[in-house]
Amino acid sequence: TGGVTTIDPGYKNTGSCESAITFLDGEKGILRYRGYSIEELAEKADFLEVAYLLIFGELPTKEQLEKFDKDIKEESHVDEDMKKILDGFPKSAHPMGVLSSLTSALIAFNPGSVDVDSEEAMYNAIVKIMGKFPVLAAWTMRKRKSLPLDYGDNSLGYVENLCKMMFSRPNKAYEANSIVNDALDKLLILHADHEQNCSTSTVRIVGSSHAGLFASLSAGISALWGPLHGGANQAVIEMLEAIKADGGDTAKYIAKAKDKEDPFRLMGFGHRVYKNFDPRAKIIKKSAEEVLGDLGIEDPVLDIAKGLASVALEDEYFVKRKLYPNVDFYSGIIYRALGIPTEMFTVMFALGRLPGWIAQWREMRLRKEPIGRPRQIYVGENYREFVDLEKR
Ligand code: SDX
Repeated sequence: TGGVTTIDPGYKNTGSCESAITFLDGEKGILRYRGYSIEELAEKADFLEVAYLLIFGELPTKEQLEKFDKDIKEESHVDEDMKKILDGFPKSAHPMGVLSSLTSALIAFNPGSVDVDSEEAMYNAIVKIMGKFPVLAAWTMRKRKSLPLDYGDNSLGYVENLCKMMFSRPNKAYEANSIVNDALDKLLILHADHEQNCSTSTVRIVGSSHAGLFASLSAGISALWGPLHGGANQAVIEMLEAIKADGGDTAKYIAKAKDKEDPFRLMGFGHRVYKNFDPRAKIIKKSAEEVLGDLGIEDPVLDIAKGLASVALEDEYFVKRKLYPNVDFYSGIIYRALGIPTEMFTVMFALGRLPGWIAQWREMRLRKEPIGRPRQIYVGENYREFVDLEKR
């Protein structure tokens, strides 16, 4: 056992690294990127600024931001042969599986992006993936909708261009919608980093073997896909729709969650770190009400969500376990109002988390951290002799 005496399932009480990127205080519901509060960043910054802040540690000057934007735009083309890989998927393929595969496939078309040591080589790999990832994400959505793939328009901002690539239609000029752009920009900022969560820890440990940035991100996308992690935003809407179909009987679902025999996870509730409230959920809840109001959308599912949250917050099962709405509880309601299909919700989470994953990978590589290789406590069989097949 290599001297290991205790294990920590799920690393609930294990620190894996020192990091200067994101600060969380679970008791006080504080979230800061490089010392700046997400409340201020969500209000005053745009997503590309926050991406720069997370990756390089400082809010960019105008010149730095313009250069970052220009360098990303110069890398926003994707090799045409990548379309053959996309074509190979059935239309029914989940976009997260497609995105993880395409992100890994990018390595073959960008051989220089396998692991790199110098800051300059890292910068090149970073602007490549920042430019190409939104294209691939939009392609996964268009593939499912049997729409022609769109390359975007470099005269647009980062998030505007993402919207154009997702929502443009072949037979109608694309009209930008500032409500949609602003809502999405804020959502991407709120998802941008979250210290050592499951998918970020995955990116860091895959990167620690020097497998390279794109391979590490591909692994991170797979980890995020799980319904206990980023996949929860899709599971929340599916749950809320089920409750709506069930006549809005939220009490039934609260009771199901407390059923000892077959406990039903109330998706969008609970968090490993936040034990009073998830500051992102507070902002997203308010934004959901504003966006639906601005777009003139009445979504009964928002009322069901609010009803479910208010009942749960009074219920001793949830209060005792400190279960509160998390970032995934309300986000799907906004994505849906913006015209984003449910199966694309976790792709939106990945688009937001991209700069955080990049920042954490870069920090790990610059700090020359050792390969991640934990030990175990062996609880298997002692030595036993081999038994020939005919004697078994
Ligand atoms: C994200 O880590 C991050 O920072 C993640 C994230 C990020 O930005 O990267 O914030 C994004 O992943 C948010 C979480 C999204 N997932 C969900 O909404 C899925 C539902 N939530 C749970 O699965 C759960 O709350 C977790 C995964 C979020 C946290 O799990 P923990 O910390 O391992 O807690 P646990 O599973 O040990 O549960 C503790 C108790 C248990 O009851 P007891 O065994 O003590 O009786 O609380 C219960 C659990 O059964 N519980 C729930 C519940 N979550 C925990 N009961 C009902 N519904 C739930 N959602």
